[in-house]
Amino acid sequence: MPSTHAFSVAGKVALITGASSGFGRHFAKVLAREGAKVGLAARRVDALESLAQEIRGAGGVAAVAQLDVADVASIAPAVATLERELGRIDVLVNNSGTSIVKPTLDYTEQDWDAVVDVNLKGAFFVATEVARRMRVDGRGGSIINIESILSFRQTGHIPAYVASKAGLTQLTKTLALELARHNIRVNGIAPGYFSTDINRDFLASDAGQAMIKRIPQRRAGNVEDLEGPLLLLACDASRYMTGTTLAVDGGHLVSSL
Ligand SMILES: NC(=O)c1ccc[n+]([C@@H]2O[C@H](COP(=O)([O-])OP(=O)(O)OC[C@H]3O[C@@H](n4cnc5c(N)ncnc54)[C@H](OP(=O)(O)O)[C@@H]3O)[C@@H](O)[C@H]2O)c1
Repeated sequence: MPSTHAFSVAGKVALITGASSGFGRHFAKVLAREGAKVGLAARRVDALESLAQEIRGAGGVAAVAQLDVADVASIAPAVATLERELGRIDVLVNNSGTSIVKPTLDYTEQDWDAVVDVNLKGAFFVATEVARRMRVDGRGGSIINIESILSFRQTGHIPAYVASKAGLTQLTKTLALELARHNIRVNGIAPGYFSTDINRDFLASDAGQAMIKRIPQRRAGNVEDLEGPLLLLACDASRYMTGTTLAVDGGHLVSSL
C-alpha cells in the first residue's frame, strides 16, 4: 500500500508551461499550495510575475521564465533558468496550447503552423528538453501532457487543434515507452470543455450551450475539477502509471451517439 507520503508533491520542483492564464495558472497555484516549488513559463511575462507574487505571498516558492514554445531555440535557456533558481525539475506540466477557429477550407499554412508549432512541436521539444535533465541523475520524473477530448473525438472549424491534440496523445504513449528506462513517466490529461480564454466565447454561444446539454453531467468543467488528476499524476502514488491519458470531462467522451 502506498504511504500517504506518496500522495504528496511537497518539495518537488514543477515546471508549468502556459502558466500565464487558464489551466496553467490554476495548476501552478494548486501545486504551490501543496508544497511544490513552481517554475512558471509562457510568453506574457507580466502575468507570470503577478502570479509568482501571489504564490510567494501565500508562502510558496515560484520562479518565472519567458518562453515561446514555438521557438525551439528558446526552450533550453528558459528551462535552465528555472532549474538554476528552483533546482532539478521533478514534474513537467506541458500545458501551453492555442487554437485558430475557421472553416477548414479557409485554413492557411500559417494558421496550421501557428497551432501545430505550439500544441505538438512545442510540447515535444519542451518534454525532451526536460526529460534529458530528468535522466541525468537516474531519479526520473513525471511529465503530464495536457491533451483534450478532441484527441479522441472531433468537431469542425479547428482542424489543426484536433490533429495536434491527437498527435500529442500518441506522443504521450511513445515517450512513455522510450523514457520508462530512465524512470520518467509520461501521462496525459484530456479535459473536456472548461471555460477559459481559449473557448469562453464558444461556450457562451448557442452552439456552446447546446453542446453542454450533451455532456452526461450537463455542465462544463471548473478548473478545480482538474486538481485531483493533476496531483495524482504529479505525485509518486502514480508510480506504476505511464503512457495513459485520464479524461476529465463529465462523461463527454461516453456521450450517446
Ligand atoms: N479550456 C478547455 O476547455 C480545454 C479543453 C481541453 C484542453 N485544453 C488545453 O489546456 C491547455 C491550457 O488551455 P486554457 O484553456 O488554459 O487556455 P488559455 O487560457 O488560452 O491558456 C493557454 C496558455 O498557453 C500559453 N501559450 C500559448 N501559446 C504559447 C507559446 N507559443 N509559448 C508558450 N506558451 C504559450 C498561453 O500563454 P502566453 O499567451 O502568455 O504565451 C496561456 O498561458 C491548452 O493546451 C489547451 O489546448 C483546454
